[in-house]
Amino acid sequence: MSLSSRPSSPRAVLLSLFVACSPATPPTTPPSVPTTPTEAAPHEHGEHGGHDHGFHKDFSDASKFSASFDNPARDAWQQPEAVLDLMKIAPASTVVDLGAGTGYFVPRLSQRVGPQGKVLALDVEPQMIEFMNRRVQEQKLTNVEPRVVQPNDPGLLPGSVSRILIVNTWHHIGQRPSYAEKLAAALDATGEVWIVDFTLDADRGPPPEYRLPAEQVVRELEQGGLRAEVVEPEPLPQQYIVRAMR
Ligand SMILES: C[S@@+](CC[C@H](N)C(=O)[O-])C[C@H]1O[C@@H](n2cnc3c(N)ncnc32)[C@H](O)[C@@H]1O
Repeated sequence: MSLSSRPSSPRAVLLSLFVACSPATPPTTPPSVPTTPTEAAPHEHGEHGGHDHGFHKDFSDASKFSASFDNPARDAWQQPEAVLDLMKIAPASTVVDLGAGTGYFVPRLSQRVGPQGKVLALDVEPQMIEFMNRRVQEQKLTNVEPRVVQPNDPGLLPGSVSRILIVNTWHHIGQRPSYAEKLAAALDATGEVWIVDFTLDADRGPPPEYRLPAEQVVRELEQGGLRAEVVEPEPLPQQYIVRAMR
């Protein structure tokens, strides 16, 4: 992974962290799910640099990101139902969407766990949570709870969840092996983490220097105490899937 575009001095690192972690300005109007989002541009994540361990990007404009995240054309390459089929989500279970963004997967997860289940939709960006709260109300997703979390902690109770889905988000997280330890602790006895992220040669996704090979994701999860494997044959055209369990 290239380090050339990353801050080199301690001051630059601190400045980068401050910019990335500053609280977002509250929205003046509540966000709403657009009905006609536009196609995601290739390399939609490409903005400014990052820091030593994760790609920090400003996700505060939830409505703008919804145009690509919730674009119906995404279904063709994201294949959300195929991903959820692989995960074998049990009715009445508690599942997590970590880095849920505008909630593209949330209604689908809500439907899978059913009225007796629970979906925890977690994100570091308060405006994404505000956006999802609106979506949850509009779509009457009574089993969904959006929550703001800290960048280094999903804030989950030990042994409390059966599935953790992380889509296009793992590369944004810093100190990933220790983060994986926290995910491992949150899983119940048969719990699993599922990471979906862009392949190195995908024609969309973060800048190439921030993409993580699937094998690296496996190593990071194993360093956190999980058993992990790449799902093969790769079912998605642009992304790999990594599955991990205790
Ligand atoms: C590229 S978006 C993916 C959104 C959603 N998973 C999807 O596939 O549509 C990445 C999301 O992860 C969130 N994020 C970044 N770092 C995070 C962290 N450490 N913990 C939780 N969420 C994070 C961002 O705010 C953003 O909403």
